[in-house]
Amino acid sequence: MTLIIAIDGPAASGKGTLAKRIAAHFGLAWLDTGLLYRAVARDVLANGGDLEDVAAAEAAARSVLAVSLSDPSLRGPKAGDAASIVAKFPEVRAALLDYQRAFAAQDDGAVLDGRDIGTIVCPDAHVKIFVTASDEARARRRYLEHQARGEDVAYEDLLVDIRQRDARDRDRAAAPMVAAHDALRLDTTELDPDQAFDAVIELIRSKIGS
Ligand code: CDP
Repeated sequence: MTLIIAIDGPAASGKGTLAKRIAAHFGLAWLDTGLLYRAVARDVLANGGDLEDVAAAEAAARSVLAVSLSDPSLRGPKAGDAASIVAKFPEVRAALLDYQRAFAAQDDGAVLDGRDIGTIVCPDAHVKIFVTASDEARARRRYLEHQARGEDVAYEDLLVDIRQRDARDRDRAAAPMVAAHDALRLDTTELDPDQAFDAVIELIRSKIGS
């Protein structure tokens, strides 16, 4: 049996953690597609380029190597913001599409998380989940992550950052962040990671049966 699961949603909604756990639960491969955009931004900057230079971003997208996705510098909000700048270019998105679709086409299927998985990358996914949480809950999660790393950041600044990134991802013309018409929605505002996982497994079972 093949099972393709698309998980989309905004920053700090919990989609990455959920996607990873869903993949482990069903024994499927997992691709965090945000890493591809993060790697493109990293490579543009490493080459001395400008994130707003579409030609530089497209060239980086064409040569991004899957092996470089484990780079720890890709995690973190700065890399995420840089990613959302190059992610608005249709040329960049097009250059990354084949890799994502090939990943999804594995025999058993796969779990992919991002912003446009249910709409563009895998429109025929067996299950689509759109994960949300309030702006405040997402900023609070980011705040706690910073605190755990001993970094001193103002909660209000994180809230502004999250809203800016949402707006950039939602308002762009190319593959904007939007729930697919057939996506199941999960609001994790009031849920801890275990509760969110139980809820998402319930949603998946409701769609595919047990
Ligand atoms: O983990 P977080 O939600 O903060 O970010 P991410 O999923 O790593 O994505 C970083 C940025 O890449 C997003 O803000 C989007 O602009 C872009 N992205 C996208 O456009 N399409 C995807 N499928 C995945 C990420």
